[in-house]
Amino acid sequence: MSNSTAAVTIAVIGGEGIGPEVTAEGRRILCWFAAKRSIPLILRDAEFGADAYEATGHLIPPDTREAVDASDAILFGAEGGPGIGNVPQDVRQAGGLLSLRRGFNLFANLRPIFAWPALAETSPLKARVLNGLDFIIVRELTHGIYFGRPRGIETLPDGQRRGFNTETYTTNEIRDIARMAFELARGRRRMVCSVDKANVLETSALWREEVQALHDAEFPDIELSHMYVDNCAMQIVRAPAQFDVVVTSNIFGDILSDCAAMVSGSLGMLPSASLGAANAAGRSKALYEPVHGCAPDIAGKDIANPLASILSVAMLLRLTLKRPEDAALLERAVGQVLAGGVRTADIAEPGVKPVSTREMGDAVLSALEAIGN
Ligand code: IPM
Ligand code: MG
Repeated sequence: MSNSTAAVTIAVIGGEGIGPEVTAEGRRILCWFAAKRSIPLILRDAEFGADAYEATGHLIPPDTREAVDASDAILFGAEGGPGIGNVPQDVRQAGGLLSLRRGFNLFANLRPIFAWPALAETSPLKARVLNGLDFIIVRELTHGIYFGRPRGIETLPDGQRRGFNTETYTTNEIRDIARMAFELARGRRRMVCSVDKANVLETSALWREEVQALHDAEFPDIELSHMYVDNCAMQIVRAPAQFDVVVTSNIFGDILSDCAAMVSGSLGMLPSASLGAANAAGRSKALYEPVHGCAPDIAGKDIANPLASILSVAMLLRLTLKRPEDAALLERAVGQVLAGGVRTADIAEPGVKPVSTREMGDAVLSALEAIGN
């Protein structure tokens, strides 16, 4: 996406809840790489969320909009969702994180699921179940029931209320995300499991047919299987090492990725990348964010785990900056920190004194200094 001289612009948006604290640590890591590796980066810090709404009447104020428009990638923290601040639900729907995802057509959400050896005790799953586990959930992010119309809540003649949403998928929407999954699988173990609910839903029946048809036409070298979503939820806790690439719809991917997070014991460990289609010049925008939400109960306390944000920076290094060695270095540094027993509260074994958000960032920086110079 960039040549060696052109600066890459990253919009840094902490957002709401614990978002600003964890993103500050991801940002420090990014700055370490920019300095030590002479990566020409321009960082643009931007406001987002309930505070921005109070001040400007917009969740995404015009300055932020301008910063994200001008950026190659966005490092995002967290969004509050309904109930955070005095933001009406319709403003959230029209102007929040989902509008960024949809506005830039970031249709492919990659959520790597990895069992960190040092966290085996933290995971509720047995070590033998975690053995060899390394898969990735490819979640369709800009269509399906999250965006389908009609949607709403109406009052019926008898005074009851009725809520409704619409799940739709078209041929191209399915094929675009399936293609991403098949291409990813070519760089891995060449296995794709497509997850749906084709025994009940028409959208899923179409999903299954289209994924199979694309496979047969263009990716016969990939081993494709299909699985119902309820079975998949069970398999993720029963035998998660069976998966390589899991491809699924927006809502199923949302649910399965929280479930899969437990292989590492905490949602605080899970990074993600949301990628758009490349334009004619071969450039595409990307958004990197932790899978966790805004966690209002622990916001502002300096106790949240910043590793999901830091590992999102590793994905940014790999996918936007095209620096796979640096991405691997950062992941190694995180592995060392965990192996050394440094824990935030969410991943601390009983009796272990947890470090703060900032101290976890410090620990990763020290590890980088030790192994990356
Ligand atoms: C996620 C989150 C979001 C989603 C929320 C915050 C809208 O749960 O990224 O998984 O449902 O997509
Ligand atoms: Mg979610």
